[in-house]
Amino acid sequence: MTGLIDPFGRQITYLRLSVTDRCNLRCTYCMAEEMEFLPKSSVLSLEEMQRIATAFVGLGVSKIRLTGGEPLVRKGIAELASSISGLDGLNELTMTTNAVLLNKFAKPLAEAGVKRLNISIDSLKPERFKSMTRVGKLSDVLTGIEAAQAEDFQAIKLNAVILAGQNDDEVMNLAQFAVERGLDISYIEEMPLGHISSHKREDTQHTSVDIRETLKQGFDITPSTETTGGPSRYYRVSGSESKIGFISPMSDNFCTSCNRVRLTTEGRLLLCLGNEHSVDLRTPLRDGISDLELKTIIEKAIGIKPERHYFDPEDTQILRFMSATGG
Ligand code: GTP
Ligand code: 5AD
Ligand code: SF4
Repeated sequence: MTGLIDPFGRQITYLRLSVTDRCNLRCTYCMAEEMEFLPKSSVLSLEEMQRIATAFVGLGVSKIRLTGGEPLVRKGIAELASSISGLDGLNELTMTTNAVLLNKFAKPLAEAGVKRLNISIDSLKPERFKSMTRVGKLSDVLTGIEAAQAEDFQAIKLNAVILAGQNDDEVMNLAQFAVERGLDISYIEEMPLGHISSHKREDTQHTSVDIRETLKQGFDITPSTETTGGPSRYYRVSGSESKIGFISPMSDNFCTSCNRVRLTTEGRLLLCLGNEHSVDLRTPLRDGISDLELKTIIEKAIGIKPERHYFDPEDTQILRFMSATGG
């Protein structure tokens, strides 16, 4: 194998790039009510992101996902997408978004070469959507999804975090919504990332097994070996083109097949979502290192990628919020 290989023999082919820690929503499981965002000077410029992305692609990374926070609130996002999508060796540029601004951005993103979109949506009930996101309007997201469907994306997937007692009664409705529109959907287990005040994470855990039991009451689902190179484990729905995925960081650790690293908004290369192992790329970049030196730092960093994450819903050890990390 050539390229970036970690100490456990895993090939790193996927970079998740957080382009901003800011967001136009405040999902209760993701953020504290009062968040302090990073000062502008700490945040990588678009040119710095582009340079780091280029180095990774030169080292064999074939898939890049733009995330946040909410990537569409970053000024110049379509231009960044366009400058990355054309990199020689990159197979796929994708994005995770909450879709609030997608009505405006669906077309520019498609034109910029973004191939697939993952859209976060946890409720189809306007009142509940508002309370789970603290500020969001469901109608904006639905309009954003429609706008995306009008463009030529290879696939659009919904992502729903299911919290017991909050939206677990919507598992079936969310799947029906996806299937009716020919969209894929993944259900995500809540992870203890960052201290929150809205609920105790141990009270809201809801496993992928529970979700599958619910879905079996309305759908004929069969496990599939298909993969999109991410953590979702997919099922096929008979009579439909849609796939249903399960992301189970709490109940079914998927770290043995991990192929990814993250770059935080501040330029910290984070080697695992559930550990603090990281290497600062911003300082050497601003000190004027060459492209070759940048690649050497990245290669060395892969040498400290941890084997796996350990999450305990009763004990939040990772103090970073997902929004700062790159969802
Ligand atoms: P694609 O195949 O790239 O579409 O990804 P996916 O559908 O498999 O996952 P996606 O990128 O949509 O990620 C959804 C969620 O999975 C994230 O918001 C995280 O909650 C979780 N996730 C993604 N990568 C990791 C990881 O490396 N570790 C853990 N613990 N969770 C992850
Ligand atoms: N656990 C699981 N998923 C989370 N996300 C944000 N915070 C968490 C968490 N604590 C997800 C969002 C969205 C993506 C950006 O990250 O729901 O799908
Ligand atoms: Fe924003 Fe996504 Fe976090 Fe919600 S989950 S607050 S949409 S970054």
